[in-house]
Amino acid sequence: MQVLDLTFTDYLSAKTIADRVAILGAQINEDFGDKNPLFLCILNGSFMFASDLYKHISTPSEISFVKLASYKGTTSTGTVVNMIGLDKDLFNRHVVIIEDIVDTGKTLFEFLPTIDHQQPASISICTLLQKPEALKHDVAVKYVGFAIPNKFVIGYGLDYNGYGRNLPEIYQVVK
Ligand code: IMP
Repeated sequence: MQVLDLTFTDYLSAKTIADRVAILGAQINEDFGDKNPLFLCILNGSFMFASDLYKHISTPSEISFVKLASYKGTTSTGTVVNMIGLDKDLFNRHVVIIEDIVDTGKTLFEFLPTIDHQQPASISICTLLQKPEALKHDVAVKYVGFAIPNKFVIGYGLDYNGYGRNLPEIYQVVK
């Protein structure tokens, strides 16, 4: 399959994804019981995963949708990642971050202090995909759908220059 200038091949089928998402949901239900978790869906890439995962959450919970905006700090703080659109108070909440993919881990590494600052009861990360070979920052991801090779993927919410998010399966670049 061709998207812009890249060629992709089938990688994870819709059924494979759905089965794994159901298992992740069951694990989260078991782990959080009556803790009333607050899910934070990181837009844009996580919208499809979050939507399917959340249907499997049977414990009382809430979900909020945020975007991340990064800018360079003026001092030694380096890059600061701000959250846009948060409509819930994180104080004392069990926060479950829903990500599409953890690649180098940079985004989460820079974003976690923003959450931590609000003193949640706990922070857990749930990502559909993780590229272990690409990881450069020390972020502890509690729930991983699939550990995948360090190759670019699209579909199921993930894009290549804006395209491919609508695909119900995940495709891997051919190189
Ligand atoms: P990190 O900060 O390096 O962990 O990168 C995370 C972000 O990079 C993800 O939220 C995606 O937006 C993007 N990304 C990394 N790898 C891929 C990929 O294979 N396909 C699509 N987007 C990706």
